[in-house]
Amino acid sequence: MKFFVDTADVTEIRDLVATGLIDGVTTNPSLVAKTGRDFFEVLKEICGLVDGPVSAEVTAVEFQRMVDEGRKLAELSENIAVKVPLTWDGLKACRTLSQAGTMVNVTLCFSANQALLAAKAGASFVSPFIGRLDDQGHDGLQLIEDILEIYDNYEDIRTEVLVASVRHVTHVLQAAKLGADICTIPPSVLRQLAQHVLTDRGLAAFLADWEKTGQTILDRKNG
Ligand code: E4P
Repeated sequence: MKFFVDTADVTEIRDLVATGLIDGVTTNPSLVAKTGRDFFEVLKEICGLVDGPVSAEVTAVEFQRMVDEGRKLAELSENIAVKVPLTWDGLKACRTLSQAGTMVNVTLCFSANQALLAAKAGASFVSPFIGRLDDQGHDGLQLIEDILEIYDNYEDIRTEVLVASVRHVTHVLQAAKLGADICTIPPSVLRQLAQHVLTDRGLAAFLADWEKTGQTILDRKNG
């Protein structure tokens, strides 16, 4: 499963990209607003840090304006994936942009039928928001299972399932167990993936015992 980081914070992205574990970035208007920075500057910086797809969302709601905004965003870098909302106009814009060779991420997906439409519209990615479904008392991961099952039925569907609105590490684990293509993960949750109390405790014990030996590895001459 590919890991995207779900943030527009360039400092966070730089730090996480240095791990070599990040395959792409997703942003949205709320995440950009949180930075207080210029959208285009932020996008250019992110695209310079990451080789994989960087999702940048249009803010128009009408078809032609979405396409115009999408083209403008796509001009910034070849790894921009234009994000459009899952509306009729968004689906039409997805079709137009995809046919012109632009990667499109259809966002705000909350049902399997919507995901089927995104695939038919030629989306590179569909983003089902699992945390927001859970918040409403629904089962976000069941939606991922349903979409994967439907997409699996049709060889011609190339759309990747990008699990979004991830709230905790269990979401990531379950998405991987289901075989989702991508999970976009907030930086705090990404960092938590590496944490385990027994790892910390085990390391502390090893280091304490090593200290008693009085030895060092780097000062030692091989041979
Ligand atoms: C995905 O691309 C979105 O940016 C994101 O996952 C939304 O998550 P939220 O529900 O935490 O806002």
